[in-house]
Amino acid sequence: MKTILTGIRSNSVLTLGNYLGALLPMVRLANKYSKDYNVNIFVPDLHSIISDVDGDLRANTIRTLKYYLAAGLEINENVHIYRQSYVPAHSELCWILDCVATMGETSRMIQYKEKSKGQESCNVGIFNYPILMAADILLYDAEYVPIGEDQFQHIELTRNIAMRVNHKYGEIFTVPVATDEQVKFMEVDNGLRIRDLLNPEKKMSKSTKAENSKIMLDDAPELAAKKIMSATTDSFGKIKFDMWTQPGISNLLQIEALVNNVPLQDVISTWAGETHYGDLKKKVAESVSQMLADFQEKSAKISDEQVYELLEKGEKYANEVANAKLLEVQKAFQLR
Ligand code: TYM
Repeated sequence: MKTILTGIRSNSVLTLGNYLGALLPMVRLANKYSKDYNVNIFVPDLHSIISDVDGDLRANTIRTLKYYLAAGLEINENVHIYRQSYVPAHSELCWILDCVATMGETSRMIQYKEKSKGQESCNVGIFNYPILMAADILLYDAEYVPIGEDQFQHIELTRNIAMRVNHKYGEIFTVPVATDEQVKFMEVDNGLRIRDLLNPEKKMSKSTKAENSKIMLDDAPELAAKKIMSATTDSFGKIKFDMWTQPGISNLLQIEALVNNVPLQDVISTWAGETHYGDLKKKVAESVSQMLADFQEKSAKISDEQVYELLEKGEKYANEVANAKLLEVQKAFQLR
């Protein structure tokens, strides 16, 4: 059976970017394919400790998993939920892959460059993080990895590492499909990158300080609406989708399409020729606040016990699969 796999770090409450770029697409794919595919959803808690955590990491992890359920994830025997640090094979394989990946390719990772920028001394975990991500994926022979556009480079790195190992030691790993195929599989028009509301050249990120730049999934719906109303646009006075010249307006069109689960092209056509940015903002503010109200009501109803029950089963499964793959790798590298 093929595997679809993804993870979201839980350093704080998630943003609308995490939700629309990764969580919701994963839930839709899971519900569509989980009869015939393994669906692995995990929280990369070891990836979290590369930077500060807001609140309690364990509690944040449980909250993130509740978000999947609130977003409509249907559970069956092929859906596996686990925490990365509860499956020690991830860090074990990471070390082995560290000895395969090169300094050159790892140093080229944009996320590493961005995350280490301006830091007087950057921890080694920030540098090593894509290799751990490769281990997360390769341990389970995952072919499809639904993620936002900011993670594409890490998928390409994972593919290179997998191909290198396979070339030297035989067909050990399934190579995940290339990012353009991932986009097709996710059934989105292009790689998803929800923009910062105040500075739309940048992606919306939980680590950005300015509160109005991001929508958090626990924002009061009225607050989220206000943030949308104060989003940066431009002075062209024309509603058009063009991420290069009009990133603020394009971001709003993109959010409107994703929140309502309609094709981006339909939203673009509806607003083509319109000139009042205020009208578009009002509509998007309404869509987002409605979505949040509904989503928050649903997540409040999910108990910690429900999540722990899923984790118990999921972690048993994950350890079995991951340990078997790790042993195969250890044998190839003459460690066993
Ligand atoms: P993380 O935790 O930074 O982000 C989680 C997911 O959310 C997506 N995302 C966005 N998508 C669209 N617009 C945005 N503004 C936006 N911000 C975040 C990310 O692309 C990602 O899909 N290294 C990963 C976590 C990870 C992982 C893995 C993912 C660890 N191992 C294995 C997949 C497979 C990360 O830090 O994502």
